[in-house]
Amino acid sequence: MDEKKTLYSAIQPTNNLTIGNYVGAITNWLKLQEEYDCYFAIANMHAITVRQDPAELRRKTLDLLALYIACGIDPAKCCLYVQSHVPAHAELCWVLNTFTYVGEMERMTQFKDKSARHAENVNMGLMDYPVLMAADILLYQAQYVPVGEDQRQHLEIARDIAQRFNNAYSPTFTVPEGLFLKVGAKINDLQDPQKKMSKSCENPNGSIFLSDDKDTVIRKFKRAVTDSGSEIKYDPENKPGVSNLLTIYSVFAGKSISEAEADFSGKGYGDFKLAVGETVADRLAPLRAEQARLIADKEYLDSVLKAGAERAAHTAGRTLSKVYKKIGFYQI
Ligand code: TRP
Repeated sequence: MDEKKTLYSAIQPTNNLTIGNYVGAITNWLKLQEEYDCYFAIANMHAITVRQDPAELRRKTLDLLALYIACGIDPAKCCLYVQSHVPAHAELCWVLNTFTYVGEMERMTQFKDKSARHAENVNMGLMDYPVLMAADILLYQAQYVPVGEDQRQHLEIARDIAQRFNNAYSPTFTVPEGLFLKVGAKINDLQDPQKKMSKSCENPNGSIFLSDDKDTVIRKFKRAVTDSGSEIKYDPENKPGVSNLLTIYSVFAGKSISEAEADFSGKGYGDFKLAVGETVADRLAPLRAEQARLIADKEYLDSVLKAGAERAAHTAGRTLSKVYKKIGFYQI
């Protein structure tokens, strides 16, 4: 009896993941894969809405898959696949385009931001990004979509499009709900600790990437901004830098904030930053080693993607053929 509810999420293979993504997204997925029927996609079709180097895009696709698996996402428990391997995404996107208004796409916050950042290449795909994302989710009849705050507006649009289609014909799509997980800890930028650590941030010293080696991790932590005074205590308002480092330490050492404070009472900022760096680097080392081992085993990774694409195409195909029937596409 498979009574599990369906959950869908995707990550673009373009930017390096940070320890913020790791804590905020990937570790949550580990729990979700036990409770839900999960589809996790590598969104390479979204990625090309801004210019990509082809060789890099190909490499990063496998890097991300290997990282998912190294982190504990189990291909036996969930469907891991590459978006472009399932043609139904592009096909449903086309249909949904006819249920989406130009005006509402022009108003999307991320579209406006990215148009400003890539003024030389404001292409139709960039504008269509939310519709492709709606197609992703709706193809799998997903009840839940775990996303960060930055994707809230995109999820709202997916719900609107689903409802619009259901009202125009008859119930076809599950209307998805966002799962805005209580992220145990919010990790901020090391150089600008009032700001969230981001994978696309301008100053790479502010972010710790899962791909950073030990020396890089430690160097970045040594350079992390701290605050005036010398006390190591958790006070996000007055000591955002120190508090962020305590948060990171508590997550990576598996300790509470007060235990973390106790570990450093009486110590100086220099020792503190070094200890946080070492703790993080030691936790990342086995992940990176396992990722490297998997990347070397291309045959295995390809087999995971092949099985994932088959399973995804099966589910997606059922939804697409329902849609084609309802809109009046003649079927043979
Ligand atoms: N746009 C998402 C992001 O950049 C990635 C994504 C693509 C996604 N399709 C999705 C997330 C479907 C959730 C569901 O984070």
